[in-house]
Amino acid sequence: MTGWANNGAAPPPKTVSQSRVIMAHMMLPQDANPAGIVHGGVVMKHIDDAAGVVALRHTRGNVVTASIDRLDFHTPVFIGNLLILKASLNLVGTTSMEVGVCVESEDLKTGEIRHTASAYLTFVALDESHRPRAVPPLLLESDEERRRNRQAQDRRRLRLAEKSHETTCRTPGVCPTAQR
Ligand SMILES: CC(C)(COP(=O)(O)OP(=O)(O)OC[C@H]1O[C@@H](n2cnc3c(N)ncnc32)[C@H](O)[C@@H]1OP(=O)(O)O)[C@@H](O)C(=O)NCCC(=O)NCCS
Repeated sequence: MTGWANNGAAPPPKTVSQSRVIMAHMMLPQDANPAGIVHGGVVMKHIDDAAGVVALRHTRGNVVTASIDRLDFHTPVFIGNLLILKASLNLVGTTSMEVGVCVESEDLKTGEIRHTASAYLTFVALDESHRPRAVPPLLLESDEERRRNRQAQDRRRLRLAEKSHETTCRTPGVCPTAQR
C-alpha cells in the first residue's frame, strides 16, 4: 500500500454527501431480451458505473472494483422503464471503500417505482503503479450514515473472512467454478 503524494500527509475527511450520486438511464431494446426484459448484466454494468462514480468522487484518483457482494434481482425491468441508481459511500478502510447502490425502475407511463435490486461493491484506490493507495477518511454526519457504516463493518468482516477461505484459480488449467 502506498501513502499520499503530499509528503505522506493524509487529506481531510470527506462527507458521504460529497460523493453520493443518482444516475438514471432509459432502458432501450438493445438492453433487453426478446421478451422485453432487461438483461441482468446491463443492470450490473450500471451498478458498477454508479458505484465507480462515488469512489472516484471520494478519491479523485484511479479506482478498481475489487468485489461485488451477492446480487438479487427482485423485480424485472422492461424496455421503456427508467433505471434509477442511488449510490453512496458506506465505509472507508485504508485503501478500500464500500459503496451501496439501490436500484429502482420507474414505469414512465404510470409513474410506478419498483425496487429492482440492492448491491454492495468494494472499490480499491490505486496509485500510478497500480498498487493500493490510501483513501480520505469518511466523515459520518447523520444517524442513518452511522447505521449504514456499522452494517458495512459487519459485511467487511464477513467478506474478508470468506476471501481468506476461498479457492483461487491460480493453478493453470484448474478452476473451482467451472470447466475450462
Ligand atoms: C483489488 C486489488 C487491487 C487488491 O489487491 P491486493 O494486493 O489484494 O491488495 P491488498 O491485499 O493490499 O488489499 C487492499 C485493500 O483491498 C481490500 N480487498 C482486497 N481484495 C478484496 C476483495 N476481494 N473484496 C473486498 N475487499 C478487498 C483489502 O481488504 C484492503 O482494504 P483496506 O486497505 O481498506 O484494508 C487487486 O486484486 C486487483 O487489482 N484486482 C483487479 C481489479 C480489477 O481490475 N477490477 C475490474 C474488473 S476486471
